Amino acid sequence: MIDELVPAHIRGLDVYQPGKPIEELERELGITGAIKVASNENPLGPSPRALAVLPAALASLHLYPDAGGFALRRALADKLDVKLDELALGNGSNDILYQLVLATCAGTDEVLTHKYAFLSYRLAAQIPGQPFVAVPTTAAYGCDADALIAAITPRTKLVVLGTPNNPTGSIVSRADAKKILAALPERALLVIDEAYVEYAAAWPEIDHVDGLALFRSHPRVIVLRTFSKIYGLAGLRVGYAIAPRVVCDMLGRVGRTFHVGSLAHVGAVAALADDAHVAQSAAQARAAIEKLRAEVHGPGVTVLPSLANFVLIDCGRPSTPIYDKLLRAGVIVRPLAAWGLPSCLRVSVGRDQDMPRVIGALNECLA
Ligand SMILES: Cc1ncc(COP(=O)(O)O)c(C=O)c1O
Repeated sequence: MIDELVPAHIRGLDVYQPGKPIEELERELGITGAIKVASNENPLGPSPRALAVLPAALASLHLYPDAGGFALRRALADKLDVKLDELALGNGSNDILYQLVLATCAGTDEVLTHKYAFLSYRLAAQIPGQPFVAVPTTAAYGCDADALIAAITPRTKLVVLGTPNNPTGSIVSRADAKKILAALPERALLVIDEAYVEYAAAWPEIDHVDGLALFRSHPRVIVLRTFSKIYGLAGLRVGYAIAPRVVCDMLGRVGRTFHVGSLAHVGAVAALADDAHVAQSAAQARAAIEKLRAEVHGPGVTVLPSLANFVLIDCGRPSTPIYDKLLRAGVIVRPLAAWGLPSCLRVSVGRDQDMPRVIGALNECLA
């Protein structure tokens, strides 16, 4: 019966596997005090400025939110020095990627990225039935600009690149971004997913592309950002695109009405002004990543560089048994077999007080 009800491209979809909830592990093992470093959340918590303004917004929950998101777009426009109509909001930045595929792709139009890109890019293409193309990466799991360019065809419509990329932590250099843009067909758009951009700002000595600068200099660049990561508002579900006016207009047509809630609007405006929380979070993540890279060891183990709030650990052998062992030690990380990286784990930065236990458990399980 399912064959008749559901088209083949939907039946074949992978189900996104989120990190295991702490409560679930504690229930299963009968333990308390488990640590979750599996979902790239901000261990410092939500922006305190957002927390301060949210209670007052509760009294207006009987009203629909501003569908145009004026206050948040105004705040973003001022902060980023872009025009109001170059901003579109979404129920998280993932939502905007889904909208982008709907708004721009038809027929055989392809979504192009690399093999170890964020899983949502695949889903965003495949749910509406668009072809998805993922090219091989460099040996270090980074974007191979030449391989990407070689895969561009007359059907390419969206080229999607995360930088820093999830789950590899790899970045796209300025030179590679330029090269890709030079090869971008007239009919295609380059989408730069900057979910972790505020974290990358803590590594000024490392060359990586500046999506906003690229947007200003090229008419077919779209930048996606989110309040889920450094701002600590993953539960509110709000992200934004900086995009050409015509693209924002199309996003407005395909997005569901009232898809960003009123608490998300209010919280995001306040968080955007919370420079202290952003700076503190970026510095904490950098220090934790440096610690993970310096202190996690094991035979055949490599902790890859990262400018985000997580690291990719290549265990040099199947990682799922190591993931299971870590669970039994009360530490939840992310196994990456489902992402095509069966020897790898992704470990998010934890709270400072939790890092010694995370590193200790990793070293024990990787020994
Ligand atoms: C690279 C990347 N893009 C987008 C997102 C999704 O963010 P949002 O919560 O805004 O949908 C994530 C979340 O993990 C991510 O890692």
